[in-house]
Amino acid sequence: MFAPDRYVAALRFAAERHHGQHMQESQLPYLVHLVAVAAEVTAALPAEGVDVDVAIGCALLHDILEDTPTTRAELVERFGEPIAAGVSALTKASSDSLILKEHRMADSLARIRAQPPAVWIVKLADRITNLAPPPAGWSRDKRVAYRDEAMQIADALGGVCPQLDARIRAKIATYAAYL
Ligand code: NI
Repeated sequence: MFAPDRYVAALRFAAERHHGQHMQESQLPYLVHLVAVAAEVTAALPAEGVDVDVAIGCALLHDILEDTPTTRAELVERFGEPIAAGVSALTKASSDSLILKEHRMADSLARIRAQPPAVWIVKLADRITNLAPPPAGWSRDKRVAYRDEAMQIADALGGVCPQLDARIRAKIATYAAYL
């Protein structure tokens, strides 16, 4: 069981850093997304080989390096190296990196697969949470690409947790209605 004080510390830090950010096409604070991912992870626990502290910590902090000025060093100091390493792996290569756009998902999945299972389940939980009705402005190509990416994630990481594997594949099937 994740210690409540550690959960609240990660939640507060995320709330401070993501302050003012909102969920896509929504008035809801971005924090709702982070807690939704943590809820998805929690529902899959206990899972074989999964460190609960790292899983919940990474769930609440998974977008903090990508979307806020937070540094990896701050995460190490506040939450320890395993969570900092997990969040780093969950952070996409920036668009100005040398990695081509079409290779970015493969690069991201390879970096996650080099991490412990706790990090794999956060990526699955993140995509499960995001397989919701797509924003109105998304083209069909973009929606198909998003669905195909989800399949790539399921194929690369689903083996770590049968429950989340079933969840993501069910969500992918439901997403077909939006294509
Ligand atoms: Ni996310």
